[in-house]
Amino acid sequence: MEFSHVPVLLEETIEHINPKAGGVYVDATLGGGGHSEEILKRADCRVVGLDQDEDALNHAAKRLALFGDRFIPVKSNFRNIKKVVYRLGFDAVDGVLMDLGVSSFQLDNPLKGFSFQHDGPLDMRMDPQNPKTAADVVNTYPEKELIRIFYEYGEERYAPQIARAIVKRREKKPFTSTLELAEEIIRAVPAKARREKHPARRVFQAIRIEVNDELRSLEEGLVGAVEVLKPGGRIVVITFHSLEDRLVKNFFRREENPCVCPKDFPACVCGKKPRLKVITKKPVVPSREEIEKNRRAHSAKLRAAEKLSLA
Ligand SMILES: C[S@@+](CC[C@H](N)C(=O)[O-])C[C@H]1O[C@@H](n2cnc3c(N)ncnc32)[C@H](O)[C@@H]1O
Repeated sequence: MEFSHVPVLLEETIEHINPKAGGVYVDATLGGGGHSEEILKRADCRVVGLDQDEDALNHAAKRLALFGDRFIPVKSNFRNIKKVVYRLGFDAVDGVLMDLGVSSFQLDNPLKGFSFQHDGPLDMRMDPQNPKTAADVVNTYPEKELIRIFYEYGEERYAPQIARAIVKRREKKPFTSTLELAEEIIRAVPAKARREKHPARRVFQAIRIEVNDELRSLEEGLVGAVEVLKPGGRIVVITFHSLEDRLVKNFFRREENPCVCPKDFPACVCGKKPRLKVITKKPVVPSREEIEKNRRAHSAKLRAAEKLSLA
């Protein structure tokens, strides 16, 4: 299959990462390698490219082979960023990029099971070594858990109706394919909800987040990224839904203003020092032209912060 992932907010990412000659940058979500390629073109630097999907990693490694040892591909979840960076022998890095979610390549490949529009196995694992698949979630989770996941990770208002329909149907025959599930979701929601965006979109997102433990990975990845950044180094995160964006915004805020002392204390006694300065007071969003050219960009939000030198 041809890899045709168009990097989102490319120019804005480069501007915020600000690559410099001699620098080391971690592209924590390598995907098709579009952002990495641009960083490598803009400065005589090195890029460590992480992806938990080996297919994506191999493909990007071929594309970026022309950069020789300036590009270092590593198969890993970015929650392990600190271990990866230290194992490669770097003490710290000059920038970290996270462009979250799945790539067009993963989404368009029915065999990965991410799409509610193409039939495929109910898989949704970015890392095929992850033991939990979407089928496990759909066929074995208690109804209450399904409701929680659909509400929390999908912000799906018909979560109870959809969970009920899934449980009833799986008692007769477990789900095996993406279209079977998508059709059951469509049947479970009221007619008016069927006229909005595809009714399965939010539930598929929720299951994908659960299967890949995306929110916990993100939290751990952000903590690790701040630890491996040099003072003056930048972290740039591109999110595609409000849960991720809120998580990143709150993380940056806490790192910028971590003091937990009561407001009426004359001086700080908690001793927590800021580690980041937020550069994007408001998230950077794509232009109308970019959204017209690349539908995937429509919900993208970029936030960036700089590591402070500790006093
Ligand atoms: C949106 S794509 C990145 C696209 C890339 N920036 C480009 O220009 O082609 C996200 C990629 O990150 C990977 N990914 C998502 N979460 C990850 C995680 N926690 N650890 C490592 N890779 C992850 C996915 O497998 C996918 O290939």
